Amino acid sequence: MFARLVSCAVLLSTVLQPVLAVWPAPKSYTKGNSVLYLHQNLQVTYNGEALTYTYGYSPRAPTSKEIVQAAVSRALGTILNEEKFVPWMLLNRGQLKNFEPDVHKGQKWLSSLKIVQTAEDKPSAFKPLAGEVDESYKLTIGTDGDIKLTAASSVGILRGLETFTQLFFMHSSGTFWYTPFAPLSIEDAPKFPHRGVLLDTSRHWFPVSDIKRTIDAMAWNKLNRLHIHVTDSQSWPLEIPAMPELAQKGAYTPSQIYTTADLDEIQRYGVYRGVEVYLEIDMPSHIGSVAESHPELIVAYDAHPYHWYCAQPPCGAFKLNNTGVDKFLDTLFADLMPRVAPYSAYFHTGGDELNANDSMLDEGIRSNRSEVLQPLLQKFVDKLHQRVRNGGLTPLTWEEIPLDWNVTIGKDTVVQTWLGAPSVKKLTRMGHKVIDSNYNFWYLDCGRGQWLNFANGAAFRTFYPFNDWCGPTKSWRLIYSHDPTAGLTEAEAALVLGGEVAVWTETIDPQTLDSIIWPRASAAVEVLWSGRTDPATGQNRSMIEAQPRLVEWRERMVNRGIRAAAITQQWCSMADDNKGTACEHVV
Ligand SMILES: *[C@@H]1O[C@H](CO)[C@@H](O)[C@H](O)[C@H]1NC(C)=O
Ligand SMILES: *[C@@H]1O[C@H](CO)[C@@H](O)[C@H](O)[C@H]1NC(C)=O
Ligand SMILES: *[C@@H]1O[C@H](CO)[C@@H](O)[C@H](O)[C@H]1NC(C)=O
Ligand SMILES: *[C@@H]1O[C@H](CO)[C@@H](O)[C@H](O)[C@H]1NC(C)=O
Ligand SMILES: *[C@@H]1O[C@H](CO)[C@@H](O)[C@H](O)[C@H]1NC(C)=O
Repeated sequence: MFARLVSCAVLLSTVLQPVLAVWPAPKSYTKGNSVLYLHQNLQVTYNGEALTYTYGYSPRAPTSKEIVQAAVSRALGTILNEEKFVPWMLLNRGQLKNFEPDVHKGQKWLSSLKIVQTAEDKPSAFKPLAGEVDESYKLTIGTDGDIKLTAASSVGILRGLETFTQLFFMHSSGTFWYTPFAPLSIEDAPKFPHRGVLLDTSRHWFPVSDIKRTIDAMAWNKLNRLHIHVTDSQSWPLEIPAMPELAQKGAYTPSQIYTTADLDEIQRYGVYRGVEVYLEIDMPSHIGSVAESHPELIVAYDAHPYHWYCAQPPCGAFKLNNTGVDKFLDTLFADLMPRVAPYSAYFHTGGDELNANDSMLDEGIRSNRSEVLQPLLQKFVDKLHQRVRNGGLTPLTWEEIPLDWNVTIGKDTVVQTWLGAPSVKKLTRMGHKVIDSNYNFWYLDCGRGQWLNFANGAAFRTFYPFNDWCGPTKSWRLIYSHDPTAGLTEAEAALVLGGEVAVWTETIDPQTLDSIIWPRASAAVEVLWSGRTDPATGQNRSMIEAQPRLVEWRERMVNRGIRAAAITQQWCSMADDNKGTACEHVV
């Protein structure tokens, strides 16, 4: 009887001990189970100097201290004012009272947060090339109430503060905040230096507020690159003061334009959060919207049938042997490079899906033969990438430029792949740096059906049941299973800088943006930050281990104002006190 009671008590306490639900998983940690309470008068210091916690503090300049001060303000504001996370949904019905500490019994308070940055930030810390900034950090919470956060860069401190926010729960009384994990020690560093989201703002436009909210959630997830695919054939929403007609005529409507001030604000917002925002102006294809203002430079705009000329209407490519295009691009880059260079080390030049047939319609070429087009494209790309370098930036290109068109590119150039592992293998073998966006895993727009129409009759029958080209939907489980370096040698893998999940927006607009990205981008984050392999087991990470942490993380994001999608039914996380096993399918 006594033995049974003991084992029952042990069982109860193990059942109600929460997982350390840090997402993405830290490199290593140890934790205890003492409870410590947080209050807003925590004594915060940065390199020994007091930092007063001011709710909603906005940085006044991109300096290390301002960035850290604002990040501390966000971290405490998140826990105490915004997230207010009571984890009833991570526990079986009625179990919350057994999980929560008794607030009437001897509370121990956290007293200080000592932040130490062990090195000075280089200017490149605020607009790094991959690998230029050390994002590692060490976080400890002692049972004496002292918190220590140490990092070599302010970016490492930002990452550590994001981890810090994930350690706290609000008590259901509504007036206490606690962590049950003391003493705690975390050492953390990312596996890949480039961890991004691609957002297409041409098929649909997104207000600055949506982009800032996305940057916020990216920073919480330790993502560090926002790639804005800002223009395409559908619309040109980017103000270019040297050529105002581009946006005046190419945007969907005058209210859907990113002004120079908007762009500055978005990029600066990213810098303060350790998220480098960089632009893509896709060319020589995917540039039809330029024809609205400069029709003489573009071929095949809105050509029919569109599928002879491009992947989706309204087509449109630069004329590849036209001096007007050179002049246009000189003006465009002279205008744009100095405005983006203060905040970013990269500029994406596009280069995907060029259809040789476009040049059949070009009166200066009238050919679709690669022997004719390839040398023209080589010259076009050489000049294009040089304009980026002249602006002090590093070019990115889509994989088709080197792989399909055999265009020679510089070793500085980063190649973004979307066609999968064979492309990553080929490019890294050639010695190119790669970021991976394998559409079979990391295209978040896939699997939601066609947006094209098919008339009754043959077209209807051919395309029924109207699947899109890249279905099925990439669930978080599939996203989580992808390793961008699978099948590579060590030397090849070393050239993979990381990856991006892609949000192409044919059928995505501000109404659904959050639920498309979150929490699925988080699944990719854990691959990119923590690695596909779990160091604890030496095996692939398990979705059964991951689910409880992702469920909790998704709940926290929801509480912070992100309309993130559910990843399992509520019952699954409640039934086993969020262990990930209640809904395991055992074979
Ligand atoms: C190019 O256009 C021709 C018609 O002129 C068409 O038959 C062919 O399929 C097109 N090629 C591609 C790759 O779409
Ligand atoms: C490109 O333009 C130049 C100058 O107009 C011309 O000499 C050359 O033949 C053109 N090349 C092609 C492939 O049409
Ligand atoms: C080039 O054009 C010819 C004639 O229209 C067409 O048959 C062929 O498929 C085209 N080639 C490509 C690569 O599109
Ligand atoms: C590029 O090179 C490959 C392999 O040599 C060849 O199959 C392909 O036709 C070439 N493409 C062009 C556009 O020259
Ligand atoms: C680990 O995951 C990879 C895909 O990332 C998969 O190909 C491989 O089979 C998995 N290994 C095991 C032992 O399950």
